[in-house]
Amino acid sequence: MEESWVNPAEILGVDLHLEVSGGGGRRAALIHALREAVRSGRLTPGTRLPPYRSLAGDLGVARNTVADAYAELVAEGWLTARQGSGTRVAERAGPPGTPTRVPKKAPPRPRAPRHDLRQGTPDAASFPRTAWLASYRRAVGAAANEAFGPGDPAGRIELRTALAEYLARARGVRTHPARIVICSGFAHALRLLFPAVVRGPLAVESYGLAFHRQVLAAAAVRTVPLPLDEDGARVGQLGKERAVLLTPAHQFPTGGPLHATRRTAVVDWARARGAVVLEDDYDGEFRYDRKPVGAVQGLGPEWVVHIGSVSKSLSPALRLGWMVLPEHCVEDVLAAKGEREAWASVLDQLALADFIVSGSYDRHVRRMRQRYRRRRDRLVEALAARAPHIEVTGIAAGLHAVLRLPDGTESSVVKAAAWQGIALDGLAAFRHPEATVPARDGLVVGYATPAEHAYGAALEALCGVLPPG
Ligand SMILES: Cc1ncc(COP(=O)(O)O)c(C=O)c1O
Repeated sequence: MEESWVNPAEILGVDLHLEVSGGGGRRAALIHALREAVRSGRLTPGTRLPPYRSLAGDLGVARNTVADAYAELVAEGWLTARQGSGTRVAERAGPPGTPTRVPKKAPPRPRAPRHDLRQGTPDAASFPRTAWLASYRRAVGAAANEAFGPGDPAGRIELRTALAEYLARARGVRTHPARIVICSGFAHALRLLFPAVVRGPLAVESYGLAFHRQVLAAAAVRTVPLPLDEDGARVGQLGKERAVLLTPAHQFPTGGPLHATRRTAVVDWARARGAVVLEDDYDGEFRYDRKPVGAVQGLGPEWVVHIGSVSKSLSPALRLGWMVLPEHCVEDVLAAKGEREAWASVLDQLALADFIVSGSYDRHVRRMRQRYRRRRDRLVEALAARAPHIEVTGIAAGLHAVLRLPDGTESSVVKAAAWQGIALDGLAAFRHPEATVPARDGLVVGYATPAEHAYGAALEALCGVLPPG
């Protein structure tokens, strides 16, 4: 049998794209191409260049041509060559005498944040690395060869089956794997639903994530703000809209659950109008003191699109989410996704399926629930001790709380916090620009983000910028 011969230099090198052309000989052309690549910034300081042999093989020139070109550029100051670490782009690449930029005197700016109390991210240090790797290893090891081909846009059946069981058990969702479509998270779900499933204006809560409003605006969707009160969105005011987007388990960001009568009312409204409720279940797993609040989807699976993701429960870096759809929407959403899965890694989908089925997901959520509850308690205790006049709300669930501030003080407190190196947002950042409900002053404090050892100092700093009682 004839064996194919493989040049080891072809395997051992690293790829370097160079446009080697023009007259003047190969050596001169190579020097010119390398110099331009460094001068233009395409090859950044410290970049390691391929060994002579591999670059010579790739370019079809003699090894000595590459060696000579490198030596010339080292002499000119563009490259450095050190025994053992190969040839690299010089830290201050350029021929001797290249002027260095003198930085202009910058105006004073708030300190770079030392305390990150922004809402939105789970505790990154608690990502279950070992359990995730174990799931990944098992899933990739057991996957059939077809799993390594183009993905089904509905998502892997293993994951949809695991989610159907998990969401029914943990969130009260009524579904079937055929009604679930995998996506890369909530924002992606919005992009797929408009205009595939929903056309026309969308009612939204008058406080919500500005980023989601931007995603909708980019899809030319007009959003109509729905007033909020202590029972959540006032769904009785829904009018001609064909859809409403809600955060029923934990209003984002103000914090309360949608009242039971409103949960029923909104499903009745959708049924009567042939409309659809989009349920953003972004942190439904994290509830502390009150009874679990199940998904609104369970009240009317044909009128509610239930949307979730692992962004709060595991990590926003995974980019994995799901839509539980009414039967009549499935085909349109799949058509919007296209012929092949183009967003959610199939291998990550298989790993998540294993993670759920093996019980690791439940274990992680339960562990994090305890951890976040302790953090929430520490926040409440610190405020009770240092700023008892500040009311804290929205604490029964989620990864953030809202600190109510005296009217007219929010923007100065947010600025003072920035000067003290505390990153956080005021409620104004979440208010719909056309909202008619009176603006509330408050701080949205995310308590999941700081590392455990840094949390006490972050709370201390926060209490230091709150207005006196
Ligand atoms: C209100 C709200 N919905 C949904 C999400 C999840 O977004 P995604 O799944 O696109 O990461 C977030 C952020 O984590 C959020 O704050």
